[in-house]
Amino acid sequence: MLILNESLLCVRMKRVSKHRFWDDSEREVTNIQISEVMEENYGLYVWPGSIVLAEYIWQHRTLFRGAQVLELGAGTALPGILAAKLGAHVTLTDLENNSECFTISHDTIVQPYNIHLQVFENMARNCEENQVGCKILSLTWGSWDQNMLNLNPDVVLGADVLYNSSDFDDLFATVAFLLQKNPAAVFITAYEPRSAHRSIEFLMAKWKLQCIKLVDAHEILPQAKLLSVSTSVEIAEIKSL
Ligand SMILES: C[S@@+](CC[C@H](N)C(=O)[O-])C[C@H]1O[C@@H](n2cnc3c(N)ncnc32)[C@H](O)[C@@H]1O
Repeated sequence: MLILNESLLCVRMKRVSKHRFWDDSEREVTNIQISEVMEENYGLYVWPGSIVLAEYIWQHRTLFRGAQVLELGAGTALPGILAAKLGAHVTLTDLENNSECFTISHDTIVQPYNIHLQVFENMARNCEENQVGCKILSLTWGSWDQNMLNLNPDVVLGADVLYNSSDFDDLFATVAFLLQKNPAAVFITAYEPRSAHRSIEFLMAKWKLQCIKLVDAHEILPQAKLLSVSTSVEIAEIKSL
């Protein structure tokens, strides 16, 4: 008899969230829809940082036309997909991991599946539904492979990638490597400021990075979006020293 540990069960509740970007005159409007799966995996639903970062990209949209953009820890990939809609050449990346989760199929047979494969499948579906052709790669922070060595982005994006302090060093190592290749390149990240400010400052110094701009989400979000971001979110632009 198979005894199930309830914490291993993933109930796959799906939904589609709609995201609208507009200018004051409403002459320029872009709509994006994102499929989300309400599971325990962080990469399967839209985090507040994604909503804020996408709005920031929209407000700086002229910078994205023709740019090489790389999104780290993209998950459902709202910022990267918007950048692609605005004319950027986008590579979406997320963690490669073989951890398995369990799901119940229609006939209640329990099947293992690779949860990170699901993140990539969902990302690909979101690109298709929004009619953008992004490249999708696995990229684990702090690991180097040929794909990683070939990347040369102008803009690196990261929404809610600063949440687990044990990953910060690997994340900044990756960011520093990418920014050092191209001194004009910038890392734009939206994150919820938790208690980790000191370790971020320490790691930025260690990896020879500097914050050139820090903006509170409330300064840039239109009134209509303030309610969808109930937590405090900051946007930082980071460059190589
Ligand atoms: C909090 S979620 C944010 C997802 C998405 N950017 C958003 O804002 O909706 C963090 C994302 O980073 C990815 N991630 C976590 N650790 C990682 C690592 N070490 N290397 C690469 N990606 C990682 C997760 O798989 C997940 O998609």
